[in-house]
Amino acid sequence: MSGWIYRKSFAFAVATTVVVLAGSIATMAYPMLRADMHPRLEALKPPTPLQLAGRDVYQREGCVGCHTQTVRPLPSEVARYGDYSKAGEFYYEHPFLWGSKRTGPDLAREGGKRPDGWHRRHLENPQSFFARSNMPSYAWLAGRPLDPAEVTDHLNALALVHPELRTELAAVRVALAGKDEMDAVVAYLQTLGAAVPRQSPRAADLSIPNPVANDPTAIARGKQLFADNCAVCHGDEAGGQEGVAPSLVDDVFLGQRPDLPDAAYFAMISGGSDAKPIEGRKGQPDGGMAAFGSQLPQKDIWSIIAWIRAEKAHEAAEGAKAPAADHR
Ligand code: HEC
Ligand code: HEC
Repeated sequence: MSGWIYRKSFAFAVATTVVVLAGSIATMAYPMLRADMHPRLEALKPPTPLQLAGRDVYQREGCVGCHTQTVRPLPSEVARYGDYSKAGEFYYEHPFLWGSKRTGPDLAREGGKRPDGWHRRHLENPQSFFARSNMPSYAWLAGRPLDPAEVTDHLNALALVHPELRTELAAVRVALAGKDEMDAVVAYLQTLGAAVPRQSPRAADLSIPNPVANDPTAIARGKQLFADNCAVCHGDEAGGQEGVAPSLVDDVFLGQRPDLPDAAYFAMISGGSDAKPIEGRKGQPDGGMAAFGSQLPQKDIWSIIAWIRAEKAHEAAEGAKAPAADHR
């Protein structure tokens, strides 16, 4: 008796259609029509003409062949790149540049991770940062002018779907004046992931002492760790590099001149530029300092700080020996 429906082919077809449709409507159409399933990304901004021009360069140069722009909701990817990609981030993306191959890292969270100067140097000569990188040089993008007519066409096409972009049409010429393709692609890279707030680290407790302060083994280890992780931006001797990263051995910390304790360094190194709650920091972070909290064990970070302190003391001693130098 229970198997009768299998012998009535028409009734079976109708029954399966009803069941499959009900399932589809419940799991697809219903969420699709509910507004709360599509949270708006409040921070999402429409692309500016310069960023759009940079996106065109990115597309033309086939960067998408080596880089993806989507972080999947897998723990390993989130740990490496940051929060997984949200649907709303792609509102203005026509076509998507998700890619499917990661010869280089995913770039969906690249914006704000490194300073403009770093990107310029990296695009000019990737091997100057990573000797084994197989990313080609794009030095020739510098000095190549942008074509306002092309960007206007692109904006016009986008405005068919997003009429609010029409307001930017008048500003194209001004926005591109004096800029080259290098400027554009860097501006574009800095927008990637900007719509999704990055997780800010907790407020720093500045009373924590450095457990390895003045420990010679830790200082030696810190020196090595610094060479491996930090020297690409801050220079071999931590003296900084123009336009890339500040000196760590002068008496300025985040643009101020307070004598901040080691814990402030710890907060900056583990939280990166987003480490807002550092006392003495005024205004917005400049950005570009990567967070090392999830990459380096705490003891390693304290060791690096012990080495920076030793370098600072060394610098100060050198300065005292040469009083002729300009000292404020
Ligand atoms: C042949 C493959 C290849 C192509 C093409 C390529 N890249 Fe890369 N890219 C890499 C590799 C490998 C790395 C990792 C090593 C490095 O940073 O140089 C990388 C790293 C990067 C990084 C640093 C990412 C990070 O956070 O560490 C950026 C930014 C980047 N590429 C942008 C671009 C742009 C923009 C283009 C196109 C103009 C491009 N790449 C074309 C292979 C490629
Ligand atoms: C990708 C480049 C980059 C790398 C790699 C990097 N930094 Fe930074 N760092 C920066 C930039 C840019 C700033 C300025 C950030 C700001 O003001 O928001 C900065 C700021 C700092 C500061 C605050 C210094 C000051 O005087 O303002 C410290 C301390 C620091 N970095 C330590 C480190 C250490 C230690 C490492 C390695 C574990 C490291 N950084 C790796 C780019 C980098």
